Amino acid sequence: MTQPSPARTPKNDSSKALYGGKGSRRITVRDIAAAKERGEKWPMLTAYDAMTASVFDEAGIPVMLVGDSMGNCHLGYESTVPVTMDEITILSAAVVRGTKRALIVGDLPFGSYQEGPVQALRNATRLVKEAGVGAVKLEGGERSAHQVELLVSAGIPVMAHVGLTPQSVNAFGGYPVQGRGEEAAQQLLRDAKAVQDAGAFAVVLEAVPAELAAEVTRSLHIPTVGIGAGSDCDAQVLVWTDMAGLTSGHVPRFVKKYAQLREVLGDAAKAFAEDVVGGAFPAEEHTFH
Ligand code: KIV
Repeated sequence: MTQPSPARTPKNDSSKALYGGKGSRRITVRDIAAAKERGEKWPMLTAYDAMTASVFDEAGIPVMLVGDSMGNCHLGYESTVPVTMDEITILSAAVVRGTKRALIVGDLPFGSYQEGPVQALRNATRLVKEAGVGAVKLEGGERSAHQVELLVSAGIPVMAHVGLTPQSVNAFGGYPVQGRGEEAAQQLLRDAKAVQDAGAFAVVLEAVPAELAAEVTRSLHIPTVGIGAGSDCDAQVLVWTDMAGLTSGHVPRFVKKYAQLREVLGDAAKAFAEDVVGGAFPAEEHTFH
């Protein structure tokens, strides 16, 4: 029996799904665009090291962000602001090495693109060449459109990020919900349109009212990736340590914890310590003679 030609493959072919689809080649921004056309929702998680990234890759997570949230979640800083290009580059390279299928997006940290498009291009190029990421992310709508335009024209896919942009924590005075009120909502719509027009392949909407995120999602042809932006976005992203219950202390209201890793790891460490102190470890089966 002859196989159907690729041109006749139905549009809703589930083997092409970003999550749950078959195929082991790396996902690209073209696959992301096709998912929006199919109306398919997809998940994204942050990752900061090769081992965790390999777990998510095996679980079928199609897009991973080496986010500057590594500042708070991995490197012990109080915010994302101190994260450097060196740190993002080293950890992005580890995540790329740990994965086979996911599209890896490297975050441009605070201070690496605000000077202008040329600085953005220099640092984005470094992430692509040294770490091997398939795309970069930067914060800002209208204010970052020139940066997006130059990166895209240089062949670097860009994910934008509007709404609550954590690198502006000092200007915001915290992490308030964005886009509330008519004027702020209009600005958010303009920001999202500006990065789409500049060539971004997707845009993160962080901490915005669900109704506004739904309107942005309807009015864009690129996918929206929500975090605290309701259920109508095309994709959803969470910081992995929040999602897995590893983060200590307060986590934002929009986080759902799918595991209690902090307890699991703590219990494992205590059990090991007690075995060592009590002489139960190492046992005969862990011992060479
Ligand atoms: O750095 C990060 O993890 C992010 C996500 C929260 C979108 O920007």
